[in-house]
Parts: sequence; C-alpha cells; structure tokens
Amino acid sequence: MTIEAVAILDFGSQYAQLIARRVRENRIYCELIPWDSPYERVEHLDPRGFILSGGPASVYDEGAPTLPEYVLASGLPVLGICYGMQLLAHVLGGRVAPAGEREYGPAHLNVLRPTSPLFANLPFSMKVWMSHGDRVEKLPPGFVTLASTANSPIAAMGDEERKLYGLQFHPEVVHTPHGGELIRNFLYNICGLKGTWTPASFIEEAVAEIRKQVGDGRIICALSGGVDSTVTATLVRQAVGDRLTCIFVDHGLLRRGEAERALTHFHRLGLKVVFVDARERFLRRLQGVIDPEEKRRIIGEEFVRVFEEEAAKLGHFDFLAQGTLYPDVIESAGTASRATARIKTHHNVGGLPADMRFKLIEPLRYLFKDEVRRVGLELGLPEEVVYRQPFPGPALAVRIIGEVTEEKLEMLRAADAIVTEEIERAGLGREIWQYFAVLIPARSVGVMGDERTYETAIAIRAVTSQDGMTADWARLPYDLLARIGSRIVNEVPGVNRVVYDITPKPPATIEWE
Ligand code: XMP
Repeated sequence: MTIEAVAILDFGSQYAQLIARRVRENRIYCELIPWDSPYERVEHLDPRGFILSGGPASVYDEGAPTLPEYVLASGLPVLGICYGMQLLAHVLGGRVAPAGEREYGPAHLNVLRPTSPLFANLPFSMKVWMSHGDRVEKLPPGFVTLASTANSPIAAMGDEERKLYGLQFHPEVVHTPHGGELIRNFLYNICGLKGTWTPASFIEEAVAEIRKQVGDGRIICALSGGVDSTVTATLVRQAVGDRLTCIFVDHGLLRRGEAERALTHFHRLGLKVVFVDARERFLRRLQGVIDPEEKRRIIGEEFVRVFEEEAAKLGHFDFLAQGTLYPDVIESAGTASRATARIKTHHNVGGLPADMRFKLIEPLRYLFKDEVRRVGLELGLPEEVVYRQPFPGPALAVRIIGEVTEEKLEMLRAADAIVTEEIERAGLGREIWQYFAVLIPARSVGVMGDERTYETAIAIRAVTSQDGMTADWARLPYDLLARIGSRIVNEVPGVNRVVYDITPKPPATIEWE
C-alpha cells in the first residue's frame, strides 16, 4: 500500500469500530483485523503502527486471545487499549491482576509525564472513561507510568525507547473528551505519520485498484439512486469509462419523482444507465401479500431476476460492482457471539447474491457512511444525492401496512411528499435521520365539511439516529406537525386522520414492517 496505514487488532471490544473511526478522523487509513487472522491480512496494509483494542477476556483465562508474535517482532510502535494494554504488560513481563472491583464509568486522569509525546499538548488532568475488570499491577521492564487515576495507579504506561504504550481507559469513546487527540499523538508523534489519507487520495487509490482488478473486463452495476451505489458507479466509471454499464430498476415502489430525479443525476454524472420499467411485474407479485417478511423476500427475489434478465440482454460481463460498506463487512465477518436474531430480512439494491457468476468489485468495502459521503462530494455528486436519507431496498412496500396496491402507493406518495417538503422547508432535513409517511389501511371515522368520512390514516415517522441501530423519535416543532397534518388531510384524497409515531427503537424499529 502506498498510503499511510495502521492495523487495529480486534480483541472483541464493543468499541473496536470507534477506534477505527478516531484513527480515520485523523486522516490515517486503518483496518480492523481480528486478532487471530493470518499475518497476510496485516502484511498487505504495510502498517506503520499497531493499535490493540480492548476485549472482554482476562489475560489469564483459558483460551484468552493472545498477542500475535509479529506485533512485537515488527519493531513498530504499539498502542494497547485496556485488554490490549494488559496483554502487552503480560507478554513483556509485567503483572496483571483483577482490580478490587470492576471499574466502569468516568475517572480523573493525572498525567505524571507530560513530556511524553503521547500526552503532548494535552492538559495535565482530564476526564477519561474506564471499563475494565483487570488492571496492570506491575510494569514490565523498560516501562514507566505515564498517568494514573484514583483506582488505577498505572492508567497509562510507556516504553518510550521501544515506542510501546498502554492505556487502561478508552480514548475512543466520546466520554474521553481528549481521546481523539491522544490517538492523534500516537499516530503523528509516535508513528511519525502525516495524515495524508483524504477523499482525494482515496479516489486516486481506488481508481488505480479497480483498473488493476478489472483489466479490460466489462462491469455491470445496479443503481438505486442512493449515495452508496452512485459513488460506487462514479468511481468505477472514472476507472474504466464505457466498460461500465448500470441498470436502474423501477419497481414502482419509489417515492414521488424519485426515478426521474435519479436518472437526471446519472445523466449529469456521465453514467451509462439502462432503465428498466418493472412496475407491473412487482405489483403483480405483491398482490394479496400481507406478511412483511414475505413482501421482503418477494421483492429481493424479483429484483435479482429482473437484474439477471437485463444483464443477459446486454451481453457478457465479468464483474459486478456493489456499494458494500465497512459496517456490513465487519458484521458479516463477526464471530458467532456477535450474531443477532434476525429481525428483518434486509434487501439491498447493491446486495445481489455473489453466486451470480460475476466477480465482485466493492470499492467502498472499507469505508464508513460519512466517509462515502465525503468521497461523493469530492467526486462532484450533487448534495441531494450525497445527503439523501437512508431508504430501504423494499421501499414503500414496507411502509404500507398489509397489501400493496397502486391506489395505496399513490396515496402514500402524496402524503410522503408533503412530509419531505415541510421538513426540508423547516431546515431540519440534515439533522433528522429519516422522515417519512406510513399508510395504515385501517379506517376511522371523521367529519369533513358536513359529511361523515370513513377513511385511511397516515402515520408520520421522523427519527434521530447515529447509525440506524437505535433511534429516537424527533421532537418536531408542534407548528410543523400541525402543518403537515392539515396538509395531508386536505390534499390527499382518502386520508382523514394523521398520527405521529412516538416510539423509539428499540422497542419499535424505524420502518413499520
Ligand atoms: P429498521 O426498520 O430495521 O431499519 O429499524 C434500520 C435502517 O435500515 C433501513 N432498512 C433497510 N435498508 N434494505 C436496506 O437497504 C432493507 O431491506 C431495509 N430495511 C430497513 C431503514 O430504513 C433504517 O434506516
């Protein structure tokens, strides 16, 4: 690799992804590597330093994760965090023991060696976040104590000569306000890195990589109009030009004007796109289907069929480009202990099955969502695409409770357009994670003019979230809610009632189905 990188060995910490985020915020590329991976996984990175994550084990447990030999043999700087620190101490001849009691929560750190490059330009006393059972009781030879807290006399240790460091607390979490700077000090002052990993350098590297991988092959890509697939296609196009063909499937479950808007953007970006009107076909297959999982399965399956048929018409392709992101990669590489119960079958427009006989091109597989957005801006994608709210693959079908019909789709599209328009006009579009309408087909009684009505209800869903894993309902101003409610009842025929969904996730999910 020509870019500056560090390797983060993952010992099972719930915060491992956060360490990666903090490193990348400092414009250094990094990858999370399970601690027991073969050396080849690390070698291709050509790392300039190692970070060892925390983890739930104790170094004395039977079968506890161990420090791979190549780490110390490399002579590179190492920063061990929590379990990572204990592991360093254990391997290098220090002593680790259970602390009197498990320490969890805020603590005050006193820096004893402010001249250490790890603590350069940081206050002598600062708030840190602790979460550990064991702690280092005796330093390994060559180490000194760099900082302490009331409960952890050795809260930070270092061997400045060999550039080996350990932190008992977690610099990667927001509850350690100076944590990002500490990690930066390790990267810049100790590993000697410069912070050259930027969206522009990523694009350069990705384009070169795609060219190498593809040779003179042809590539196909499914576009959804979302940021991931659009950035993927734009990168691939930069790399191979006309040898990329994109397919956009209109399954008839899109929001109002969405297909037209997407096509305009694709055209501006110079993407060659085959538009497939499959609206009737999807609607036919969804006829009479009520069960949410069944809807999801049908849409996923039909999508693959349409895509395969169209691809076959367009001749031979060697590669399939997909907008897979890093969290999906980490998730699917997870151990059994990380597996979670299946709540919903997710269907991604990009997520076509790998047995489709194509080789995969996934230029974004090491990026987080916000990094993809920055790359998108650098590539010149319009903000409307870059900041588009997440939209589920099964689209409006999971926002109509029960059977999907064209009539209900029309009603939902009209209500949804009002929600979008009003929230954006109020300037709240960026701070709210998702905002949309849901159609509840149960009918209720109302009165309009002097007439009795007996019609459908619309729910408004607006949530704040960091990542979609958990969410809270957005505290929208009452006036805004009032405007949305009255416009929907007045402008959407067939709707006589509007309710606001005030359930967080959990216990509810963001989508209704
Ligand atoms: P839930 O409803 O599970 O949704 O709380 C969490 C996030 O995922 C989105 N979502 C999907 N995205 N394919 C996708 O690409 C899907 O099948 C799918 N289902 C839900 C949802 O919009 C929210 O952002």
